[in-house]
This record gives sequence, structure tokens and C-alpha cells, in this order.
Amino acid sequence: MSDSSTIKITHSTGSYEICVGRNLIRSVAELLSGINATGPVGIISNAKINDLYGGPIREAFKQADFVTRTILIPMGEEYKTLASAEQVMSALIAQGMERSGTILTLGGGVVTDLGGFVASILFRGVKLVHIPTTLLSMVDAAVGGKTGVNHSSGKNLIGSFYQPDLVIMDVETLKTLEIQDRISGYAEMFKMGVIRDTKYLKFLVDNMDACISPDSSDILIQAISRSCELKAAVVESDEKESDLRRILNFGHTLGHAIESTLGYGIVRHGEAVILGMYGAGWLSNQVGDLSSEDWDSLSTMLKRIPLQLPLKSLNPEAIEKATRLDKKVAKSQLNFVLLHGLGDAYVQPGIPMLMIKLAVDAIKTAWEGRE
Ligand SMILES: NC(=O)c1ccc[n+]([C@@H]2O[C@H](COP(=O)([O-])OP(=O)(O)OC[C@H]3O[C@@H](n4cnc5c(N)ncnc54)[C@H](O)[C@@H]3O)[C@@H](O)[C@H]2O)c1
Repeated sequence: MSDSSTIKITHSTGSYEICVGRNLIRSVAELLSGINATGPVGIISNAKINDLYGGPIREAFKQADFVTRTILIPMGEEYKTLASAEQVMSALIAQGMERSGTILTLGGGVVTDLGGFVASILFRGVKLVHIPTTLLSMVDAAVGGKTGVNHSSGKNLIGSFYQPDLVIMDVETLKTLEIQDRISGYAEMFKMGVIRDTKYLKFLVDNMDACISPDSSDILIQAISRSCELKAAVVESDEKESDLRRILNFGHTLGHAIESTLGYGIVRHGEAVILGMYGAGWLSNQVGDLSSEDWDSLSTMLKRIPLQLPLKSLNPEAIEKATRLDKKVAKSQLNFVLLHGLGDAYVQPGIPMLMIKLAVDAIKTAWEGRE
């Protein structure tokens, strides 16, 4: 089994590589030379990640005569804003950032989304390198070219499609990640298996412990690499989310509503998506054509994932309301990603809102007594 891998991603204006392995942050200067990065490197991170991993990265750049500037943003989703992006750009400009420079994001999805957005508009676009440091940002946020910040009216309402020039995933950085963040990332890999690849889904289920343990095993490298390949294949055929890419939202309609009603910070994004996938699977069996055999198998696999959430406070009415707001539902019906079978997802229009409440009841019943 390989202990590192490189995945080539092709998009409408070119291609880039995702490198997955151990101790890659120490080779960061060499990897940037490979994409002809010559100007200053603006490292965007937060204080915690900078303390953990910024030192070796700056040292590697120093050895290779790269000029670096480090800009820290405060920790937390609430700082993924246009105001933070402006502050980052002002600091970069004041510190001599140039059009020939490179933005390097070092952190979870908050940092890669905000830093990617900055790279897309600063000097009308500069080189962009992501070093995602959470499992979720490795398999989701840093792959696919969506960047953005939140607005007071909603999440990710301001942003751009902007592809990176390179993505470096060093699994050693995951050792310091909290267990809930590991599970959150595992959920997004699991989702890729459910919608695209049943063999991969079985691999994830058989190797769940290795995927969520702090050990940076070869299994984890394999799992991350395959998830990125699967996501990249979907994105390559629908870069701007007009059609196929929507299946990536499997579990997310209910997931977003659960996240907003339970409260950000109490539930991680991926944890809510696990419950959302349960609801979407249940709906696929009730109103779609997911066989009872596939549904039994999916629900069993989902319930094996260890979740510690205050599910008693899940309120079906509040979730229905949040879903309406999130999706601006027309005529009491909404589009929903369902399954024909495991590995085969599609978008079903016209799901009645009443079914959403019933799906949440099904989630509550399934997890009863497990909090
Ligand atoms: N662009 C996309 O396609 C896309 C896809 C999915 C999610 N997202 C976005 O990603 C964000 C969520 O990402 P996330 O789950 O990575 O959250 P996050 O960036 O908030 O990181 C979670 C926490 O882990 C900490 N952390 C990061 N790396 C660590 C490490 N190696 N060791 C210890 N602690 C570490 C962070 O400081 C933070 O406190 C959301 O803003 C979401 O909108 C974007």
C-alpha cells in the first residue's frame, strides 16, 4: 500500500496536483518551485494552526530563499467574512505582497475558503496553494474550487469559483485534530462512497477506526486520496454547479438545517451531514426507489458512526422551518438529493415539506437512547 499519492485534477482553464502524504509541509518550498512560484508567499492561517505548523513551513521557505508574510485571522466561522478578507488584503498589501506572489492557506475550511477568496480577487487573482489541516477541508473544502465568505443573511453567500495551483495534504497535521473534527471529515468521505462508489464505501466502513484515529496510517492516506478523486471527477464534469455537482449535496439539505437549529459549535458540519444522510436515505426508501435491502445496509452503516449530540433537542418543526429558509422553498416543495441505490444519487424535485418533518422523526427514533 502506498504511503503517498498525487492526484491530477483537470478543470476548464488548466490542471493542478493534490499531494497526499506524510511530512509534506517540510517540502513545501520544493513543491511551490514545481508550480513556478517565485514572488512573496502570503501565508494565511489562524494563531492555533500557525503555532502548530507555521514554523516548519517558514523554515523550509527560508532555506529556499522565499520571502514569506504571515497573516493570521481569528479562529471561528464567524470570522469568515468580507471584513476579514479586506483586513487580510490590507495587511498583505502593506507588507509588500505582489501580483507575482502566492497565497498559501494553512488551516481548516474557514481558512481555505477565506484565503481562496482573497487569492481570487487580490490583484485580480494570484497563485493559490492550499494546505488544509482538517480532514473535512482535505476531502471537501480544498477540492473543487469553491471559495467564499459568509454574509449576515447566510453562509457562503459571497464568493468565487477559483481553482488552486496546488494542494498539499499532510496527514501528520491531522494528529492534533479533535475527534469530532475527524468524524466530521469521515462523514464527507462516507458521503462520496454513498453517492459514487460502493467499493470505497465498504472500505471506509471496514476501516472506520483507522480513518478517525489520530494515527496517520496508510489507510487514511488511501481514504483521503480516493475521496478527492471521486469529488474531482464530479467537479470536472460540472465545475460551476449547474447539474451533476448537486449530488455532492447528499445529506446536506437536512444537515444544514440540523446544524443551524442545534447550533454551530455544538454540532460539526459533518456530524449534521451524517444525520442528514440518514434522513435522505429514509426519504429515498419512502418516496424514491431505494430498495429496503440498500436502506437497511445504509442505515446500519450510518448508525455505527460514533456521534455525541444533543439529539433530544432536535425539533422537527424548527428543522422544517430552517429548510424552507435555506432553500427558499417554492410551493411547499423542494429539490432533494436522493438515491436510486447505493452509489447512485440523483436530484428529485417536488419533495413535499411534510416529508421533511417525518424524516426528522425517523432520525430521532433511530438515534434514541444513543446520546
Ligand atoms: N469550499 C467548499 O467547497 C467547502 C466545502 C465544505 C466546507 N466548506 C467550509 O469549510 C468550513 C468548515 O471547515 P472545517 O470543518 O475544517 O472547520 P474549521 O476551519 O473551523 O476548523 C475546525 C477547527 O479545527 C481547528 N484546526 C484546524 N486544523 C487543525 C489541526 N490540524 N489540529 C488541531 N486543530 C485544527 C481550527 O482552528 C478550528 O478550530 C466551513 O466554513 C464550510 O463552509 C467549504
